[in-house]
Amino acid sequence: MHNETSGGSGRCLVVHPYVITDRDRLRAPASRLGEAVGLAQAIALDVVAQELAPLRQVTPATLMGGGKVQEIAARVKEDEIDLVVVDGALSPGQQRNLEKKWQCKVIDRTGLILEIFGERARTREGVLQVDLAALNYQKSRLVRSWTHLERQRGGAGFLGGPGESQLELDRRIIADKIVKIERELEDVKRTRSLHRKARERVPYPVVALVGYTNAGKSTLFNKLTGADVFAKDLLFATLDPTMRLIRLPQGRKVILSDTVGFISELPTSLVAAFRATLEEVLLADVVLHVRDVAHEDAEAQDADVRKVLDELGIDEMDRAQRLIEVWNKIDLFDSERRATLETELARRPATVAVSAQTGEGLGELLRAIEAKLAESSVPIEVVIPHDDGETLAWLFRHGEVLAKAEAEDGTHLSVLLAEDAKRRLEARLHQAL
Ligand code: GTP
Repeated sequence: MHNETSGGSGRCLVVHPYVITDRDRLRAPASRLGEAVGLAQAIALDVVAQELAPLRQVTPATLMGGGKVQEIAARVKEDEIDLVVVDGALSPGQQRNLEKKWQCKVIDRTGLILEIFGERARTREGVLQVDLAALNYQKSRLVRSWTHLERQRGGAGFLGGPGESQLELDRRIIADKIVKIERELEDVKRTRSLHRKARERVPYPVVALVGYTNAGKSTLFNKLTGADVFAKDLLFATLDPTMRLIRLPQGRKVILSDTVGFISELPTSLVAAFRATLEEVLLADVVLHVRDVAHEDAEAQDADVRKVLDELGIDEMDRAQRLIEVWNKIDLFDSERRATLETELARRPATVAVSAQTGEGLGELLRAIEAKLAESSVPIEVVIPHDDGETLAWLFRHGEVLAKAEAEDGTHLSVLLAEDAKRRLEARLHQAL
């Protein structure tokens, strides 16, 4: 969700530079600029100005040519800008030169995205991967960059860099920290399967929202967990704010989990961090792929998301089993597009059209989630002690009993159970099935 501007973060200008002869672009520069502004707002920057910077060629010292650099310098002065976000990759030298010319703090796209990941990372591995990427990024910058690490340290904000001796010290500290984090990461990876096991014991199915930045995940999440809507929001103290326990219309409880949004042309140095922040998707019982189908780049965004899901190990078959495509923002469709919507949907499996904003289609979405969960039943064998009539009754209510036999040690059952019911049974019996 995008926060309103916050006083402490300073006035910000977002610039999207692009080379005009670059014909490989999948997306229009204006929509790239819009995306960058959205990202800046997502970390509560006060975006007071934005502009496109078409370049005939790249100028090595400052990326942009002298004329553009001057034009922006004037704007920085006039609009009292504290921070310029350059939506592209800046070398440490370019960043330094631009800071000198504009007399304000400059961060590039990688710096901006690091901020967002820093705020969103939740798993231990996610936090470590983001810290590692941030430190590697910082290491190569002579001027200390503004990253979440600095904020954690209570840094002074954008303005004012440290002195040289401070920088030397910082460099050593950074190198030490990198070694430490790399070691910790190895530990975490070794014990990762243990964490998975712990998560598997969460007694409710997990429904994870993924999607492109600005697709409307947070809006949908809030709407679904909102007080007076379709699903009842329940308190689940161990979960963080991006996870909520809700009750579906037919009574089943699920955990709804929001994830960090996908971003076009993710800098390669951030890929590991991004994947780690997405880890819960691997464990989810149902994945909701939220799409802004009213967006001009909807197809390119879809291709991006599919590619990453593939790389995460969620392939075509896996997708068919647990993915629901949520076509969001249909309130923005004109009557012509609306008229063809039904036929389009009829041709696609597991696709629901909604407007997270107006609430249209959300009832259907919840029903689709219930249907997906019902598809994922597994057969189990279990022995229920004779004195545990309660669990036996529970099993008959929640599962489909295929065979039953009495024995010395209890009732032997073969039952078809949904994944989440199986987990609840395991918790009940204190044993893995
Ligand atoms: P990130 O946090 O960047 O990943 O974005 P997100 O996917 O969480 O998107 P968010 O919910 O913040 O919504 C992005 C913008 O789209 C906001 O301005 C929303 O108000 C708007 N939006 C969300 N859903 C709808 C919808 O159904 N219709 C319309 N018209 N706008 C919507």
